[in-house]
Amino acid sequence: MSEPPAPLIQVIRVTRVFKSGDSSVEALCDITFSVESGEAIALMGPSGSGKTSLLNLIAGLDRPTSGEVWVCGQRIDNLGESALTAFRAKALGLVFQEPYLLPGLTALENVAIARLPWEARRELESKGRELLASVGLKDRMHHPPGRLSAGERQRVGLARALLGSPTLLIADEPTGNLDASTTHEILELLQGIRQKTGVTLVIATHDAAVAAVADRIITLAGGRLEPPGRDQARAAGLLRTSQQTSHGDGAD
Ligand SMILES: Nc1ncnc2c1ncn2[C@@H]1O[C@H](COP(=O)(O)OP(=O)(O)O)[C@@H](O)[C@H]1O
Ligand SMILES: [Mg+2]
Repeated sequence: MSEPPAPLIQVIRVTRVFKSGDSSVEALCDITFSVESGEAIALMGPSGSGKTSLLNLIAGLDRPTSGEVWVCGQRIDNLGESALTAFRAKALGLVFQEPYLLPGLTALENVAIARLPWEARRELESKGRELLASVGLKDRMHHPPGRLSAGERQRVGLARALLGSPTLLIADEPTGNLDASTTHEILELLQGIRQKTGVTLVIATHDAAVAAVADRIITLAGGRLEPPGRDQARAAGLLRTSQQTSHGDGAD
C-alpha cells in the first residue's frame, strides 16, 4: 500500500521492425519512456517517424519486436489475444483521425455498439446519451453520420472512446482532418474531460496547437526519441507562442 504508484505507461527498450520480403523497416528503435497517471502527453514527429507504431504498441494493437510495454501495471506485449481484448475493453479509449462511424446507425447507436459485448444495451444507451450531451451533441444524437459535420463526427468518436470510462485515452492525430476552429473546440472538450475524469492522455499530432495543451511533449525522429532536453525546449517554445501574455523574461 505504501509503495509509490508505478507509472501508468512504461515503454522499455522497445524496437519494432516491419518485415516484408527481403526488406525491413525499423519503425521504432530503442524507445524508453514512462507516463504518469493523469499526464497529458503529445507525441510529435514528422510523418513516418513512428508515432502510430508506438501508439499501437501502447494500445496492445501490435507487439514490439523486442522490449517491454507495461500499461496500468500490466505487461501487455506478451499477453494472449483474449487477455489483450479484455485489457483494451477495461482500460483504453481510442480515437483516430477518422472515427469510421457506421453509416446506417445513429450517433447514439454508433457510441453504444462499441461496448455491446460487455454491457447491457439500455445502460450503454443511457451512458451514451450523457456522453453525447457532454460533447455538445444533445440535439444530434439520433442523426446518422452523413448528417453530421467532420467535427461532430469526431465528437461522436470521442464519446464512443469514453463510454467505458477508460484510464487511458490514446488519440492518433485526432484533429488531423479538422480546421483550426474545430480543432480548438475538440481541444477544449479534451481539456474538460481531463479535468472531470483525470484520464491520462497520449495524443499523436503534427499540430503545435494540440501539443500546447499537453503537459509534456515526446518527440520521435526516424523511430528514435529525441533527447528530453530538446523536448522541453520545444515545449517551452510552443507554450510561449500559444500564450500571448508571456512576459518576455525567458532565457532567449
Ligand atoms: N504495417 C507496416 N508494415 C511496414 N511498414 C510499416 C508498417 N507500419 C508502419 N510502417 C513504417 O514504419 C515507419 C513509421 O510509420 P508510422 O508509425 O505510421 O509513422 P507516423 O505515424 O509517425 O507517420 C514508416 O516508415 C512506415 O512506412
Ligand atoms: Mg501516424
